[in-house]
Amino acid sequence: MTGQHHVEIDTSRPHPARMYDWYLGGKDNYPVDEEMGRQMLALDPRVPVMARVNRAFMHRATRWLAGQGVRQFLDVGTGIPTEPNLHQVAQRIAPDARVVYCDNDPIVLAHAAALLRGTPEGATEYLQADVRDPDAILEGARKVLDLARPVALSLVALLHFVSDEDGAHDLVGRLMSELPSGSHLVVTHATADFTPEESRAATEKLKAAGVTLALRSREQFARFFDGLDLVEPGIEVPHQWHPELGEPVPGQEDGIIPGYGAVARKP
Ligand SMILES: C[S@@+](CC[C@H](N)C(=O)[O-])C[C@H]1O[C@@H](n2cnc3c(N)ncnc32)[C@H](O)[C@@H]1O
Repeated sequence: MTGQHHVEIDTSRPHPARMYDWYLGGKDNYPVDEEMGRQMLALDPRVPVMARVNRAFMHRATRWLAGQGVRQFLDVGTGIPTEPNLHQVAQRIAPDARVVYCDNDPIVLAHAAALLRGTPEGATEYLQADVRDPDAILEGARKVLDLARPVALSLVALLHFVSDEDGAHDLVGRLMSELPSGSHLVVTHATADFTPEESRAATEKLKAAGVTLALRSREQFARFFDGLDLVEPGIEVPHQWHPELGEPVPGQEDGIIPGYGAVARKP
């Protein structure tokens, strides 16, 4: 796909992609997103720091992968473009990197043109698809990526929007099952392990507004990597995963970041 897209945007309820954009200081959000964002901040004023820490994890993980020789990336739950985007991070190290982005929110589709400005020797593509339909994602990805060669699948701050009833663990297994040995899985995920009270309140508020938040424990997070080899340092709070590969986010050390991040390799 190319160019700017005209799509129907539902501004009657908050959307995760637009709330996240608001936390990051972006302009692609609506009053309903800001309102819910402010309610989240009232529960925990560190939410914008968490969003930046998460984004910085994605940058470092992508740098690490490109440094390991990975040249193909499949990023599901991409979000509204925020520079640098994954392809920019990867292609700075490896100009020939090929990147497929995917999100189910039409607002991301509307801004996808910014995700498609890559290097001439690499490639980027955008798919409008839902992670709960992994076969549609694999079919679209195949048009740009060679699934016989290693791929890094990133599901960054995505899976806590997918419930167990919707098969969160199975869909990760399905996506990884079609990728060859040497592929990697990159995940960050929110948890209630550190701040149970605030997390419960946030989950309830979001549920009332129609947004699923499936917070998971460390053990439930670890299950996404079943059958894979976690790379050093294993499961960490996101800002403590290879901090040497990027700049610290201001405020990241001032309290708990209630999330986990990890990267694993398919043997
Ligand atoms: C918090 S944002 C994270 C954006 C980006 N991955 C990052 O970490 O900077 C979560 C994204 O997941 C997308 N998302 C939520 N549920 C999804 C689903 N079922 N399928 C595909 N994308 C989904 C949202 O639209 C949103 O863009």
